[in-house]
Amino acid sequence: MLGVVFTTLIEMLEENVSPEFADEVITEAELDNDGAYTSVGYYPFSEMQKILSVLVAKTGKPPEELLHGFGYYLFGRLAQSHGQVMSGSKNLLDALSVLDNDIHVQVRKLYPDADLPTFTVISRTENTMVLEYYSVRELAPLAEGLMDGAAEYFGQKINRVTTKSDKPHTYEFLITVE
Ligand code: HEM
Repeated sequence: MLGVVFTTLIEMLEENVSPEFADEVITEAELDNDGAYTSVGYYPFSEMQKILSVLVAKTGKPPEELLHGFGYYLFGRLAQSHGQVMSGSKNLLDALSVLDNDIHVQVRKLYPDADLPTFTVISRTENTMVLEYYSVRELAPLAEGLMDGAAEYFGQKINRVTTKSDKPHTYEFLITVE
């Protein structure tokens, strides 16, 4: 998992809770590098899982809620630093329809080591989309937070329903723009 994901998570904890809280989390998670991440580095996904379990223990919130909140925050940060990646899209469904063939392709050029998921558009009308998400890391709640962040970025309100597919590591999002 890319360093930018770790540095953004630590930044979110510092900003939304406090620098002391972020330090406590890093210490309690007993991370291999004591939390010294660089944005262009690459670190095992298990380190992210360690941070998440410490956050669950400290906040009492379910991991899904924490991942969703982080996805929302992460989208804002990515859009700020790499806004050009989104420049071809006018609204959320347009952005989601080019996620695999454009947005994440551009991300791969910026970060060749990125571990990216697969998104497949199953169906689309003007205001609805069924989007399939596949990742061995099964970060569906993170994807939901990213989608909600993207909806906010485009000034749109959405409804979402997530279903686990029969296929391994696969989820389906039904997204409706209000
Ligand atoms: C609505 C839009 C987006 C969605 C739903 C989305 C979804 C995701 C998800 C779910 C992951 C986690 C990896 C996994 O599931 O295995 C991911 C990773 C990532 N995405 Fe996106 N993404 C979106 C837009 C963007 C944009 C605009 C950027 C950058 C400009 C971006 C850059 C990245 C990066 C850097 C990673 C980390 C890869 C790694 O850890 O190695 N994404 N994305």
